[in-house]
Amino acid sequence: MAGKIRQQYHLEPDCGLLNDPNGLAYFKGKYHVFFQWNRFAKNHSYKEWGLFTSPDLCSWEFEGSAILPDQSYDKDGVYSGSGYVIQDKLYLFYTGNTKACGKRKSRQCMAVSEDGKKFLKTGPVLETPEGFTEHFRDPKVFKGKGNHYFMVVGAQRKNGKGSIALCRSKDGITWEYTNMLAVTEQYEMIECPDLFQLDGNYVLLFDPQKRDNEKDEPEYSFAASKIVNFDEKTGTLDRENLDEGYTVMDSGFDFYAPQTFLAPDGRRVLFAWMSRMEEEQEKAFAENEPNIHCQTIPRELSVKDGKLYQHPARELYQQLGNEVTVILKSQNVKKAYPENRAFSMRIQNIDLKQNLCMDFHQGEAKIEYNPVEKKIVFSRCSWLTDERESKECRLENLQEMEVWSDNSSLEIFVNGGEKVFSSRILPKDRKPELTFAGITERTNIKIKEII
Ligand code: FRU
Repeated sequence: MAGKIRQQYHLEPDCGLLNDPNGLAYFKGKYHVFFQWNRFAKNHSYKEWGLFTSPDLCSWEFEGSAILPDQSYDKDGVYSGSGYVIQDKLYLFYTGNTKACGKRKSRQCMAVSEDGKKFLKTGPVLETPEGFTEHFRDPKVFKGKGNHYFMVVGAQRKNGKGSIALCRSKDGITWEYTNMLAVTEQYEMIECPDLFQLDGNYVLLFDPQKRDNEKDEPEYSFAASKIVNFDEKTGTLDRENLDEGYTVMDSGFDFYAPQTFLAPDGRRVLFAWMSRMEEEQEKAFAENEPNIHCQTIPRELSVKDGKLYQHPARELYQQLGNEVTVILKSQNVKKAYPENRAFSMRIQNIDLKQNLCMDFHQGEAKIEYNPVEKKIVFSRCSWLTDERESKECRLENLQEMEVWSDNSSLEIFVNGGEKVFSSRILPKDRKPELTFAGITERTNIKIKEII
């Protein structure tokens, strides 16, 4: 049945395949969320930028196509990139991808907009520098504390291992490559880097990718974060080895290519692609559907005690409606029956004597915490095998949880966003039903519908 996985409040186009968020910017009174889009099919054979806009991060307008692969330098894909507002204009930076006779070529390109509706391409601003292969993409532009602009680019070195390249510009328009910012010896590529100031630190986001360089095929990848010091003068990081000291950004199944931008009030806001599905999973998940994949909810970032926290953007709470009744079933078990799967839930005063288990819709998904083993486990029912598949991480103690559920996804924020589990769920044909086991009377559960 079509429409089964269609989300209520997550960003997704009506047709085709969405991937990375691109060009995030607040421009002329509107949030701009561009995204990688194949509007023709639910596969990765074609890439352009689509666009959503919003005045408030809650109500969104789908604006359709923004940048098409229609020039000699980007004809095989308008790949990921970023946006930056300079003197009342929105500048977009993306990777123009070409593949003539199977030979890949990447160029970092620019487009400019005065109204956020029409985007005028100005062409390539940077060729791949010496020392890198053509796996050189995903430019993210930011302004330093001085007046310089910087661009970080995901890269592969000539030795087949990954890296992040640093480029500079005085005006944000003319660019030059300066140096290798960071390297990995364990991964063959770094995708979608982001570097920004936050709460007195610099934060580096990056996606290490294992590749088979012979076959030129990706094997697996994930999103990582690292708190660093960035010296603007020398263009260097204090901790440039990407294989050390990083944190996996999300402990669930589906989270990739996060990108951040500044909201007008100074908050650092993140969107990410809510998928890490294999091709087979994609096919089964979106069978009979016109489209596949969505973005995560917008999240506010902060750094506390040297850790990166993700929290649902405060605007989202304006969308909360009626409260759902929670019923006490027996001493340690409570139940709730929301009208549909779009709800938000907060669990506080978790006072555990035994394992906590929260079950969503009779086993569609579960989150369990074992206070003795100090382990938190998220599991879902695999839509390929019907068996349970799980992801886990260590958690010293569980104080609270916040869940943002939509028709086919769950985003679970643990301890105010210290850990997050983001996953797509294939809904079964059954009524929403939540079961909480292992809690005490003190535990406070508040569930609200999302309107
Ligand atoms: C990450 C990514 C980027 C690339 C884009 C292409 O998901 O592989 O590196 O620019 O997707 O769609």
